[in-house]
Amino acid sequence: MNVLVTAGPTREAIDPVRFLTNRSSGKMGYELAHAFQAAGHQVLLISGPTSLDVPDLVDFIPVESAADMFEAVSRHLGRMHLAVFAAAVADYTPVTVAPEKLKKSAASLTLELVKTPDILGSARQPLGFTGTLVGFAAETENLLENARAKLSRKGCDLIIANDVSKPGIGFDSDHNQVTLVYPDHAETLPTASKHDLAHQLVQTILELHLQRQL
Ligand code: CTP
Repeated sequence: MNVLVTAGPTREAIDPVRFLTNRSSGKMGYELAHAFQAAGHQVLLISGPTSLDVPDLVDFIPVESAADMFEAVSRHLGRMHLAVFAAAVADYTPVTVAPEKLKKSAASLTLELVKTPDILGSARQPLGFTGTLVGFAAETENLLENARAKLSRKGCDLIIANDVSKPGIGFDSDHNQVTLVYPDHAETLPTASKHDLAHQLVQTILELHLQRQL
């Protein structure tokens, strides 16, 4: 099967030397890409900047901004059977990128931001993806309610939700605890290393894909 995984943070340029980003390490997405590959699938990993090594035998497209990631996903999604969107995409980007390094001349500086494209939210429409679609939800409150809303809004088969306010799991950590949120039920998994969790998630996602074909 052809599997697409997005991973990592994005970088939204302010000027030639500065950008907006977030705490995502990319570990969960890279572990998922590795686990799908180890399960015998053809994997394309589209990732923002991380310090991680690309897993062996995984196709790789490095991107910087949310707009770059949207463009790469749009180009490749059509031939995928399954797609997992694990990237922590910036929700906003500066309206303009200053062509020269901004000087600290004024006492305060206001950045005007505009929404980035919702990549996962575009997969079904307008991109027309009909395969199995899995998203992540990073939440600090009302985990189940927010994840359910994302599941239906973005047309996903499964949302893997994690509480990023809990210390020691999630963003920038080697461990994670997730809740699997389906249209009709939810299941919280025990805390595990991202490596072990990725193998478990891949089995779950592959079973979901098979059920979807029935
Ligand atoms: N996502 C995406 N493109 C964006 C924003 C998010 O593809 N511009 C994807 C993420 O990869 C993740 C899912 O959407 O799989 C949910 O991301 P999250 O940041 O939790 O939700 P948002 O849609 O950004 O909603 P909010 O920030 O309001 O919680």
